Amino acid sequence: MTIKLVEPKATAAGDRRRGERRLEFAHAWDYAPAPEAVDHVKILPRYELFIDGKWQAPEKGRYFDTLSPSTEQKLSEVAEASAEDVDRAVRAARHAYDRVWSRMKPLERGKYIFRIARIIQERSRELCIVESLDGGKPIKESRDFDVPTAAAHFFYYAGWADKLGYAFGGRPVSALGVAGQIIPWNFPLLMAAWKIAPALACGNTVVLKPAETTPLSAMFLAEIIQEAELPDGVVNIVTGAGATGAALVAHPDVNKVAFTGSTDVGKRIQKALAGTGKKLTLELGGKAANIVFADAPLDQAVDGIVNGIFFNQGHVCCAGSRLLLEESVHDLVIRKLRDRMATLRVGDPLDKNTDIGAINSRMQLEKIKELCAAGEAEGAERWSPPCELPAKGFFFAPTVFTGVAQSHRIAREEIFGPVLSVLTFRTEAEAVEKANNTFYGLSAGVWSNKGARLFKMATQLEAGVVWGNTYNKFDPSSPFGGYKESGFGREGGRQGLAAYLHVD
Ligand code: NAI
Ligand code: MG
Repeated sequence: MTIKLVEPKATAAGDRRRGERRLEFAHAWDYAPAPEAVDHVKILPRYELFIDGKWQAPEKGRYFDTLSPSTEQKLSEVAEASAEDVDRAVRAARHAYDRVWSRMKPLERGKYIFRIARIIQERSRELCIVESLDGGKPIKESRDFDVPTAAAHFFYYAGWADKLGYAFGGRPVSALGVAGQIIPWNFPLLMAAWKIAPALACGNTVVLKPAETTPLSAMFLAEIIQEAELPDGVVNIVTGAGATGAALVAHPDVNKVAFTGSTDVGKRIQKALAGTGKKLTLELGGKAANIVFADAPLDQAVDGIVNGIFFNQGHVCCAGSRLLLEESVHDLVIRKLRDRMATLRVGDPLDKNTDIGAINSRMQLEKIKELCAAGEAEGAERWSPPCELPAKGFFFAPTVFTGVAQSHRIAREEIFGPVLSVLTFRTEAEAVEKANNTFYGLSAGVWSNKGARLFKMATQLEAGVVWGNTYNKFDPSSPFGGYKESGFGREGGRQGLAAYLHVD
């Protein structure tokens, strides 16, 4: 490794941007990659369906590839479950519910869930690599966030299993039966944990459908479930795309559907379930406002803005994708933000220093590009730091748009990529009005030195989660969910139990 330190050029012009100066430092070193070792991870060339505790071939014999979005190389192929396969999985779940799981003492159920949590911890080094390979997220995120938070959800809900009678003021509760759960590709293992852990704790059995671009961590989770000796059929995992999901939603013997994904599909599911009596929770898109007041600790706010939108390539339903800046600090914050963005490292998800990994799929990359082109066409000013993107794979440079109007598509539509749209405000009332001017309502962030202002804003913002002087903080004990077109129902915390129980 050679290390070259070059003197930063003198900044003769007093008005030179700080961002540019920093950039020279960033380029002063030859970068030495720090790739995570992957040789201890065994990904099989093919995965079958996980039904009734066993790996079962799909009836139609169809399989599809899952790629690594950072190299475009095939990692493995997984079974495509047909409606008949889904039916087999639901029947296994029903059988397990009737014969075993609903009859088991809650304390015993809890022990199984604890066991899953512990094995996730034991196998965390494999899981984070699989997650980063299959989905493209930086290893430091899958290692420090996705996998530990997934384990934390199993630990948390394991503790509830024998205390359900106390969860709702002593009101009697009972399980629903079979839960059909459909999850997206942005947090594959974590979303599986969010769905499976409370369902099991409440005494339900599960059929889970992972997203088609990121099925592998669910295949590892199936191995973990076998290792934990969970009774056969309590958790079944069927891979496939939209048609598999639709078959699960439509199955007459499913008592509850839990879905996380796009608002479009969420609406379709809601229509399909109307009048069936099946219980439903939907966690859909977002267009969160991250609101920075002039009295905020601005350097911290800049880090929060960066974390809010560039975390996981912006593939986050609660991403702080609209930055609302108090007009008096707009120029200063944008300068600091560009400065910080210039230090972000885009590239190999398995490099421990990578901040922004690969976009999950070519389709998602095209969507991001299309919306950015619309942003420029509608008159917003686009900026990205100079950064070399890898030649292969799906990558997108962190991007900020200033001069954005509320009517622009980039201010209204979910981009689901590392793209920030900046708007301004002058008063608290204007900030609230602009923040709430969206069909969505999943989350928001407020940055201010005044505690009273944080609380006041939190009551006025139509968002399921409002973060104060922080962003993207998660804990299994905190409920999460949306308003308006962001969906309904809560996941996490005591509230998350309600989605999987009849409460008398
Ligand atoms: P999607 O909603 O199509 O996919 C989510 C899950 O639903 C996947 O498992 C998929 O196979 C399944 N699915 C698709 N069609 C279905 C149907 N008719 N019935 C039942 N299940 C079905 O999302 P997609 O197309 O991958 O992403 C499109 C956009 O959705 C993204 O650009 C982003 O804006 C948003 N999105 C939001 C997420 C969130 O966390 N709220 C997660 C993923 C995407
Ligand atoms: Mg993949």
